[in-house]
Amino acid sequence: MDNYLGITLNEFIIRRQSDFKYATGELSRLLSHIGVAAKIVNREVNKAGLVDVLGDVGTINTQGEAQQKLDVYADSQFIHALRASGEVCGMASEEVDDIVTFDSILAKDGNYIVCIDPLDGSSNIDVNVSIGTIFSIYRRVSQRGHLAENADFLQEGIKQVAGGYVIYGSSTMLVYTTGKGVNGFTLDPSIGEFCLSHANLVIPENGSLYSINEGYMRKFDESIQRYIKYVQEIDPETKRPYKARYIGSLVADFHRNLLNGGIYLYPATQDQPNGKLRLLYEANPLAFIVEQSGGMAVDGANRILDLKPNTLHQRTPLIIGSTNMVKKVMEFIEND
Ligand code: AHG
Ligand code: MN
Ligand code: MN
Repeated sequence: MDNYLGITLNEFIIRRQSDFKYATGELSRLLSHIGVAAKIVNREVNKAGLVDVLGDVGTINTQGEAQQKLDVYADSQFIHALRASGEVCGMASEEVDDIVTFDSILAKDGNYIVCIDPLDGSSNIDVNVSIGTIFSIYRRVSQRGHLAENADFLQEGIKQVAGGYVIYGSSTMLVYTTGKGVNGFTLDPSIGEFCLSHANLVIPENGSLYSINEGYMRKFDESIQRYIKYVQEIDPETKRPYKARYIGSLVADFHRNLLNGGIYLYPATQDQPNGKLRLLYEANPLAFIVEQSGGMAVDGANRILDLKPNTLHQRTPLIIGSTNMVKKVMEFIEND
């Protein structure tokens, strides 16, 4: 696939369509539509300091968090793009209480639903630090020709047909998987296209970066506290102490660890026994990507992709990254 390097996202999607037996091109078109919406959001993110899109809008989202103007903008861009696409019958967004169903004849016939965190890392928007978008795509379980239903969204992560993210960083990248490896595309602003830059991404089995909000140290279970002390011990053989890296934008922390090897943890805390991150919009798509690149994602007891969601905005603890690092955390948890 290395000889595909440099080809555009659309070209790549078309070439890979033959990976799927009986593919009708619907998923391919849907992925292209997500790429276009990402470019539109990227345009706004890039000029955020110049126009009046910084700051909060004074509203609180369904998670009880203050919505930023760009949260709302990104959310409406993705909903608008996917409503018009014709392949999608409904969406669930971190920013919206209930599922959004699309009622045109074309959309009701759509075979797919999308779960999205339109802007991840909201607290970093105003300070010019990398932020992202995270998405996942499922085949609907309800009948085509009708409105989407909650059951379409409450599927185990293992049922995803695609998962991905966009990182609006020093360059903008789109990384996704359809279950046949992970590929990354960098936006070339001069031609306005995502071009294949990272073919067949593989996460190193071991790493020496750890990402966790250590300010919450005393709120974590003892096993996690002991793990943090372990990573800080001096042992050149195991490359400890590990380097601490925490941006506070999950996408950016995850992306770095995917490329360089590392682990990201957002465990349960005393006041948030289910952690903070959302299963549908954050944990599942990244778990799909990490597994497809050779890594692991767990909630501290179970594989993330096996969890059956009960509610749309369900939260989950998340431990994700290089396989041997995730296994090490699990040793600490199991020996508790
Ligand atoms: P979002 O901006 O979509 O609400 O997500 C924020 C998440 C995630 O991106 C980040 O890793 C985490 O919240 C940071 O939380 P803390 O500030 O509690 O560390
Ligand atoms: Mn998020
Ligand atoms: Mn968000």
